[in-house]
Amino acid sequence: MSEKREVILSGIRPTGRLHYGNYFGAIQHFIRLQDEGQCCYYFIADYHALTTITEREDFYGQTIEMLRTYVACGLDPEKSVIYRQSDLPCTAELMLLLGMITNIGFLERGTTYKDKLTKLQEDPKSEGNPLSYGLLGYPVLMAADILIVRADKVPVGDDQRQHVEMACDIAQRFNSRFGDTLHVPHPVGRDALRLPGLDGASKMGKSEHNTLDLLDEPETVLKKIRGVETSTDPLPLEVESNDPDIIVPRMPGGVGVLYRLLHLLAPEEVYLDFVGKYRRKEKFYGTLKQTLAEYVSAFNAPIIERYNAPGNDEASVCDFLRANAKQVTPVALNMVERCRAAIGIGHSLYRA
Ligand code: TYM
Repeated sequence: MSEKREVILSGIRPTGRLHYGNYFGAIQHFIRLQDEGQCCYYFIADYHALTTITEREDFYGQTIEMLRTYVACGLDPEKSVIYRQSDLPCTAELMLLLGMITNIGFLERGTTYKDKLTKLQEDPKSEGNPLSYGLLGYPVLMAADILIVRADKVPVGDDQRQHVEMACDIAQRFNSRFGDTLHVPHPVGRDALRLPGLDGASKMGKSEHNTLDLLDEPETVLKKIRGVETSTDPLPLEVESNDPDIIVPRMPGGVGVLYRLLHLLAPEEVYLDFVGKYRRKEKFYGTLKQTLAEYVSAFNAPIIERYNAPGNDEASVCDFLRANAKQVTPVALNMVERCRAAIGIGHSLYRA
């Protein structure tokens, strides 16, 4: 490749199985960028997951399961640097430094923090975890993840857009105070996806319990898709466009997600055929659900097979985690050292 390789970084919390929102919002871009030959860093955000995880016994197992699913989806630890956030503890040091220049008022405007605050105000017993210092500082840790490898691009779904913007703001604030040290990444593109949940909610999410998962077997897929609420009378669409970004928001909740998924998975003519049925108000939801379930199961089958393949077990995951953590560590330490020097602490003596 003659052009300069871009530095790509992104992460996913190990809070359950990977779902279609994770795949189409993030992982498909991870794979594309990896296959373009960019310099990719993909990690499991286990520190971030501590803001929501309450079941200690599942934590490590879920991390390994997610890494095996990464590999099953096509992420290759020989081409991308794949690691656990907690295996790069100098990220926490950078978070501390960045935290010193980050106003509390700025963090209180973070949507994740605000949502949790609202939930707790409505029902103080609603969530297992407290409104913690860690949750308020969530965007600072995310900024440290991104800035520590000098990322150019951060492929994420639309729900993480604000966090990436906050990372850009934090980097700019640091640079204006201490001189040009941190690389400011590109903001998230306008085309970032927000996949609705199977219950019609605006976002598919692990904590919303409305996900379609990459490891779901055909029986589960069919059950979940059959359960999508479509009883609302279809209103004929009066828009010319067939673009799902335009027509899906006009459909009643559950129907919208079925069409969005169909557009992601089925050939264009199949999708357009069902859009036509919707416009003509035909009775077709049974066939739509059956057709979609077949596409979903066909999409999941090779992922499930690779997930269970010999060689994709805990031992092999630990092997590549060890090797890849060794690759990212010097890159990250170099950045931390530069920040220490810029702030005036000076270089670390024990690392020298
Ligand atoms: P997380 O674990 O919530 O989600 C992982 C990725 O999946 C995307 N995603 C979606 N995209 C479209 N539609 C959806 N319904 C949907 N649900 C999830 C997310 O946008 C994300 O890209 N804070 C991050 C993890 C993180 C991180 C980082 C990401 C920690 N440090 C640094 C990028 C850079 C998170 O909680 O993602």
